[in-house]
Amino acid sequence: MTQRIAIIGAGPSGLAQLRAFQSAQAKGAEIPEMVCFEKQADWGGLWNYTWRTGLDENGEPVHCSMYRYLWSNGPKEALEFADYSFDEHFGKPIASYPPREVLWDYIKGRVEKADVRKYIRFNTPVRQVEYNEADDNFTVTVHNHETDEVYSEIFDFVVVASGHFSTPNVPEYPGFSHFGGRILHAHDFRDALEFKDKDILVVGSSYSAEDIGSQCYKYGAKSITSCYRSAPMGFKWPDNWEEKPAMTHVDVDTVFFADGSSKKIDAIILCTGYLHHFPFIEESLRLKTNNRMWPLNLYKGVVWEDNTKLFYLGMQDQWYTFNMFDAQAWYVRDIIMNRIELPALEDMRAHSAMWRENELKLETDRESYEYQGSYILELIEETDYPTFDIAAVNETFLQWKKHKKQDIMTFRDFSFPSVMTGTPSPAHHTPWLYALDDSLEAYLSDTPKPEEIQKASGE
Ligand SMILES: Cc1cc2nc3c(=O)[nH]c(=O)nc-3n(C[C@H](O)[C@H](O)[C@H](O)COP(=O)(O)OP(=O)(O)OC[C@H]3O[C@@H](n4cnc5c(N)ncnc54)[C@H](O)[C@@H]3O)c2cc1C
Ligand SMILES: NC(=O)c1ccc[n+]([C@@H]2O[C@H](COP(=O)([O-])OP(=O)(O)OC[C@H]3O[C@@H](n4cnc5c(N)ncnc54)[C@H](OP(=O)(O)O)[C@@H]3O)[C@@H](O)[C@H]2O)c1
Repeated sequence: MTQRIAIIGAGPSGLAQLRAFQSAQAKGAEIPEMVCFEKQADWGGLWNYTWRTGLDENGEPVHCSMYRYLWSNGPKEALEFADYSFDEHFGKPIASYPPREVLWDYIKGRVEKADVRKYIRFNTPVRQVEYNEADDNFTVTVHNHETDEVYSEIFDFVVVASGHFSTPNVPEYPGFSHFGGRILHAHDFRDALEFKDKDILVVGSSYSAEDIGSQCYKYGAKSITSCYRSAPMGFKWPDNWEEKPAMTHVDVDTVFFADGSSKKIDAIILCTGYLHHFPFIEESLRLKTNNRMWPLNLYKGVVWEDNTKLFYLGMQDQWYTFNMFDAQAWYVRDIIMNRIELPALEDMRAHSAMWRENELKLETDRESYEYQGSYILELIEETDYPTFDIAAVNETFLQWKKHKKQDIMTFRDFSFPSVMTGTPSPAHHTPWLYALDDSLEAYLSDTPKPEEIQKASGE
């Protein structure tokens, strides 16, 4: 009997899983039957932008946490697929930090070529995953919003690829209920123009705080204040950006900080991270972790140790992204296809414990991306995913970090050669700070827009 696999989510991770099986099929292997359930109307996960916030057109929590004018925050050379290069997709070299729409187009290009859309049931959130002990299989219950029908099907394997940057972590600070301005989480941030001429506070000191603050600066916020809980971001900020220690409380229009200072603020944007949230998975199968490099209970970062027919993709904190999801998906495919044999439970646990122990020793960013790089290498050495130069990607990360330290407003103007093809990337036609149009057309065009040239030359 053909085995059946349920893949939950058609973002970069779920699509990597579909592509992994399709690539085995293209080489002559017989593959299991795949059904990918996707709650949104289209594929691409977080990269599939919507203006909506709160609930979507079907009454489901909006998945998208991306916003207008979002550009890649790391060089594209660090995330390039090893089996589908940017050169192949765009037919010409493009600059290193593409806006969201350009990366979405790239993600789609590979899976369109692989012809895997036919496996996806859109507008269909998974409601429940239950393991049937007696039959050693899973009942997956879903809601088809197109027919408004809830139904269940049986699967031999389940791959959870539903992401973990969509359910906001929303802390409350004293006085929030009396604050007169807007308080929102980064998940609901959509357009920096909303904050033009406003004094804003971004809470947090990680990527969302850095990038949403930068967006607001770029699109004309009057001032940006950021505050940190553990450590400052410490970049050289523009003159109207001030970094403060933790917020203690707020009143109707003022925020107070731990150093005794205060500032009048129009809006508070909580860039306070996300929760791993899987309300659709039964208790014994549910991953519980914070955002970190080595969540426990996942052998090789993907296999649910207590039930090895269940897999999670992309659940780690992410330096590497698309090519890490690929490495994971190819590895999961090969377990399902009996090409990789799993060790005994104690050995899996010991292996995970060793990676966790090493995770706890990580002190610097460099150690962290090198750690994740060596994890990826460990996976791809066991499959036929095309190997690639992880050391070169690590070096790209090193340069990226240096560029950010030099100037947080210009790091996206640098270019890197492709690790996969060796092709050097050209400089983008307009420095990031002045490139206000983030459309695919504007990015791929060879010439800047006249108004952007004008802005860049300070006229
Ligand atoms: C604001 C932001 C910016 C980012 N920018 C970058 C960047 O510049 N570069 C980079 O490499 N990475 C970036 N990332 C990281 C991002 O996590 C990855 O690029 C990537 O999108 C992760 O892919 P995924 O498939 O694991 O998860 P997701 O992209 O989150 O996709 C998960 C999919 O599962 C679906 N789903 C969820 N629940 C269900 C359900 N119950 N039933 C059915 N379907 C479901 C969702 O609709 C979605 O399509 C960013 C993340 C955020 C939040
Ligand atoms: N392409 C882009 O430009 C872009 C933009 C935004 C985000 N992203 C991606 O999105 C992902 C998530 O990034 P993220 O920054 O949202 O989450 P994150 O990296 O998990 O960081 C969460 C931040 O919230 C802070 N925090 C948590 N609880 C808090 C509280 N109660 N009070 C104050 N601060 C609190 C944390 O501080 P502590 O350090 O004290 O824990 C940390 O600084 C990353 O993969 C990132 O690359 C990309």
